[in-house]
Amino acid sequence: MSARPTALTDALHDYLQAHGVRESEVQRRLREETAGHEWALMQISPEQGALMALLAELIGARRALEVGVFTGYSALAVAQAMGADGRLTALDINADYTETARRYWAEAGLAERIELRLGDARESLAALRAEGREGAYDIAFIDADKSGYDIYYEHCLALVRPGGLILIDNTFHMGQIAEPVRWGENAPVVDALNRKIRDDERVTIAMLPLGDGLTICRKRG
Ligand SMILES: C[S@@+](CC[C@H](N)C(=O)[O-])C[C@H]1O[C@@H](n2cnc3c(N)ncnc32)[C@H](O)[C@@H]1O
Repeated sequence: MSARPTALTDALHDYLQAHGVRESEVQRRLREETAGHEWALMQISPEQGALMALLAELIGARRALEVGVFTGYSALAVAQAMGADGRLTALDINADYTETARRYWAEAGLAERIELRLGDARESLAALRAEGREGAYDIAFIDADKSGYDIYYEHCLALVRPGGLILIDNTFHMGQIAEPVRWGENAPVVDALNRKIRDDERVTIAMLPLGDGLTICRKRG
């Protein structure tokens, strides 16, 4: 028992990844290819993928939404966990990054189950609502530009059903969120959203010290 998370040394992190994660072969290859990308640090960790897959499985998710795809690792983890009748709507603005995602989703046999929409997520999310998808999703993951986080949260809250989950990545904002002087123009945006969610009666929450901070919200209702 401990009141604080045990410090994650390199050795302990290796142990965690070796003993706490079951990646599919396609996931492993995607992660290894992405490791050579100039923006590799944007990819979620295997242990976060495992948690997201477990949460999707726990709530019997069949409809998932992702805001921020990159090379497709997190979408792959969740889509795999949902089974044959699962469908995932994936939103990103970058055609190059998501070309890799499309390739690996196809290799995993998931091309027909994942719909990729390219464009600014602000517009894509508004379009999903206009199409009548409010309350249609079981789980949503927010992992795109931090400037849009509050807008993405509000859209996802409308698009997820009562009892569904919204996962928000990077709520530690590169570990800077608690520093007295915060760097970066988006740190105040993330901080304001963290404060808002802490007091938001529409959701039950837990902020986890996983990766760069992962906040899990369950929509009440
Ligand atoms: C941190 S990465 C996502 C990582 C991904 N979830 C994974 O597991 O590998 C952020 C992504 O958000 C996308 N993005 C940035 N601004 C966006 C916007 N306004 N609308 C949609 N996507 C955006 C970027 O192109 C990038 O692929």
